[in-house]
Amino acid sequence: MTGDADLDREAPAFAADANPEAEFSAKASWSGQEPILMDTHVHTQHSDGAATIQQVEEACRRLDVGCCIADHNEIRGSIHLWERRQVPTLTSMEVGSRELIELIVFFDNPESCEQFFKENVEPYRLKRWYTFLPRSLEALMAGAHEHGALISLPHPYAWLWKNIRFGERRQGRVERVLEEIEGIEVLNGSMSPRANRRAWQLCSQLAKTPLAGSDAHLVEAIGSVLVGLEAPGFSASLFDQLKAGRVFGLFAFEPWSLPLASGWQMVRQHTRKLISLPVSFKPTAGRRMGWPFFLK
Ligand SMILES: [Fe+2]
Repeated sequence: MTGDADLDREAPAFAADANPEAEFSAKASWSGQEPILMDTHVHTQHSDGAATIQQVEEACRRLDVGCCIADHNEIRGSIHLWERRQVPTLTSMEVGSRELIELIVFFDNPESCEQFFKENVEPYRLKRWYTFLPRSLEALMAGAHEHGALISLPHPYAWLWKNIRFGERRQGRVERVLEEIEGIEVLNGSMSPRANRRAWQLCSQLAKTPLAGSDAHLVEAIGSVLVGLEAPGFSASLFDQLKAGRVFGLFAFEPWSLPLASGWQMVRQHTRKLISLPVSFKPTAGRRMGWPFFLK
């Protein structure tokens, strides 16, 4: 699907033991009517996380939960997990906009996810530094809705530019995002209780669907923050439940050390990318995008 061979490293051996026929073997006793717990925000080695897809799957099966892989501007891990059909999942990604705001987009099928990626993400990705695209929030949301996605705003009160109240110039666009999205992540494993509380208040005020995710960058954090959906299903019906906002609860089981370790994992991954010179950025409208331009 996408070209970077170095990120497909764990796929062949792992794929050999996949059993597409054994849909939901991890939940063999599942009746189809029980509630389901989902970690809606997990990172893997396809972006800045530490986990392979196999480790994600093992963690989900051990905890008996589902999860959505929301790698930064990347879908291969998410689609790989979906295709294996061993744990409940939706294809998804965390996409970063030109305004330095991130969105998580969930799709009801991998084809729509891939189409969105090909049209709105892949052509705009900068080499190596993948967190934010030179693409506006407006364009990303229009593209996502065109493919029937559910859009969620993760960690709205994160640090600095990831905080929706950071900088006056983009407030108009932020307000528009808040109008158009369906969900707000009110419980994020990397955020402080205060930031999560504020997110919850915002979500209640705007009557959006409350979502929860570990934002796991470590294997140990997967499944530590969960959203409870009223009725489970594989992919399409799970998507419908999420879209309809049928959430019955939010749960967190997180040791205090995880945010610190998770933060360190992110620093390691991003630093590794920054120092792996040479770094080149595509010139856009006559000037160089991204940073650090002095490394060129
Ligand atoms: Fe994230």
